[in-house]
Amino acid sequence: MSEPGPSTRVVRAGLPDPEQGEPFLPGPVFAAPFHLSGDPADAENVYTRYGNPTWGRYEEAVGSLEDAEAVLFSSGMAAASALLLTHLRPGSVLAVDEGCYLNVRRLARTHVEPRGVEVRLVGSEELADAARGADLLWLETPSNPTLEVYDIVALAELGVTTVVDNTTAGPLLQRPLDLGATYSLTSATKQMSGHADLVLGYVTTRDAERAQALRDWRRDAGAIPGPFEAWLAHRSLATLAVRLERACDNALAIARLLAARDDVEGVRYPGLPSDPGHEVARRQMSGYGMVVSFDLGSRERAETFLAAARLVTNATSFGSVHTCAERRARWGGDAVPDGFIRFSAGCEDTADLLADVEQALNA
Ligand SMILES: Cc1ncc(COP(=O)(O)O)c(C=O)c1O
Repeated sequence: MSEPGPSTRVVRAGLPDPEQGEPFLPGPVFAAPFHLSGDPADAENVYTRYGNPTWGRYEEAVGSLEDAEAVLFSSGMAAASALLLTHLRPGSVLAVDEGCYLNVRRLARTHVEPRGVEVRLVGSEELADAARGADLLWLETPSNPTLEVYDIVALAELGVTTVVDNTTAGPLLQRPLDLGATYSLTSATKQMSGHADLVLGYVTTRDAERAQALRDWRRDAGAIPGPFEAWLAHRSLATLAVRLERACDNALAIARLLAARDDVEGVRYPGLPSDPGHEVARRQMSGYGMVVSFDLGSRERAETFLAAARLVTNATSFGSVHTCAERRARWGGDAVPDGFIRFSAGCEDTADLLADVEQALNA
C-alpha cells in the first residue's frame, strides 16, 4: 500500500492493536500511583506525574503525524516553558521573533531574561541576524495574530537549534521537522482537539535525548496533562483532517470576500495569492489554515461587526469547529490596530458563514 493520506493517518493514529472485546480507543486511566512492588525502574506505570498510559497513546498518535517523538504538556505554554527552561542558562542567547504569540514573548521577557539570558526580541527582517550566535531560535509561522510567514528552511539553515511554533498550521498542514527545525511545538488547545473544550500542548522532536530531557522536565516541574484531556484530544484527532478541510475552505472563502471589499483593510491569509507570505507558504505548507486577519478601521466598527455576527462567536481561541473571532487589541501586547480582527473559520456551511459575515460587515 502507498503512504496513507492524512485522513487515514489520523483516524487510526495511536490506537492499540485490535483485541477481542476491547474498545477501539481505551478510556482514560485515572490514577495517581499505580500498584508497584519492587524496583520502579522495571515498572511501566509508577505514578502519573512520571507517565500515564492515556498520554502515552496520544503522544504516539501526534508523534506519528510528524514521524517524531512527542512530549505532551498541560498546555501549549507549559510546552513552551519546558523548551525555554531546559535549553537556556545564565549567559545563553535566545532569538525570538517579535510577531510570535504574546504569552511566549512575555514568558521570555519576564521569566527567562531576569535569569541571565540575553533575549533578542526582533522583527522578521532582523531575525536571521539576531539568530547568529544564539543558543535557541524561536519562530512562529504563520504567526498569531498577524499571519506573517517565515521561511523555515532558510532560518533552520543558520544552524541554530530552532523551535517552530506550529500551532496555527498544525502537523497536517506543515511539518517543521522535515524543513530542518529541531523542535515543533503545537498548542493542542486549537484545531488538534478542535471543540473549544480543553487545553493541552506538545513538542515533537526526532532527537531522542532532547525528548527525554523534556520528559524529565515535565516529571520534575510537574506540568502534566490530565488523562481526561489527553483522551478527549485523542478522540477528536480522528476527525482532524475532515474538520481542517472544511475550515480551510471556509477561511479562503472569507478571505476572498473580505479582500474584495473596499471597507476592509489589511486582509491577511497565506492562501490568498496576493498575500505577502503566499509564496513561502506555498512551498512549506500543504494547506493554509483557518485563521484570517483583517482591519475594520476602528474599535467601534470591529465591535459592531462582532455583535452583529450570529455565526461568529466572540472568543479568544482559534481552530474550533465553531467560527470564532475577536478584536485582538482588547488584550494589549500585539502590534495591531484598534479595529484588527483575528478570525478563525469553523466548520459551518460556507454559504451560511459568508452570508453572516457579509451582513455583519454591513451592520
Ligand atoms: C501560536 C500559539 N502558541 C502557543 C499558544 C499557547 O497555547 P495554550 O493556550 O494551549 O497554552 C497559543 C495560544 O493561543 C498560540 O496561539
